[in-house]
Amino acid sequence: MSLLRLTQNLCFLLGITWFLRPSDIERINDGKALVSANTLRLVILAPKEKRSGRPIEKCVVISVDSNPSLYPAACYQAYKECFIYLPPLIRQHPRLPQFSYVPLVRNVTDSDKCIGSERISNHIKSVLNLATTTASPTSLRNQGYQSTCGRINESDFGWG
Ligand SMILES: *[C@@H]1O[C@H](CO)[C@@H](O)[C@H](O)[C@H]1NC(C)=O
Ligand SMILES: *[C@@H]1O[C@H](CO)[C@@H](O)[C@H](O)[C@H]1NC(C)=O
Repeated sequence: MSLLRLTQNLCFLLGITWFLRPSDIERINDGKALVSANTLRLVILAPKEKRSGRPIEKCVVISVDSNPSLYPAACYQAYKECFIYLPPLIRQHPRLPQFSYVPLVRNVTDSDKCIGSERISNHIKSVLNLATTTASPTSLRNQGYQSTCGRINESDFGWG
């Protein structure tokens, strides 16, 4: 898998499985990431939501036990392995420059740079576009989904 595709997949999975905004993904402080056998914990530095007007750290934890799709954690680890020999990046928070952190997602062509939420958003969209071009509605029809749907009515659920 190319680094571009891996980066796109990582952004997509973080967005879809953890409901993270591109601006959240931009602010992942990878210096505080914790990987254990069963969980991956990521910390977002000063996301858009605040508590009592104060910036917070948001924690997201994915449990491999409770979530059968351990793919996001695997993708995260595969992504990190690409940069295992590079020093971590340090950057200032895009809105609160008094905070600095270790950003997760890097520029595909220049690994010494991180990317912003706009680029992250483009990565997510590129995976979504891929999904719409490869999904084939005719294959559903061939499997008889349409006729099954046609038979369902309220009385089938006991509401009639
Ligand atoms: C990534 O790095 C290249 C080369 O330095 C630069 O031209 C490009 O604008 C960067 N992309 C982003 C999204 O920062
Ligand atoms: C729903 O199912 C019931 C019993 O199977 C049938 O009598 C009824 O006509 C159906 N209604 C519609 C709108 O298809």
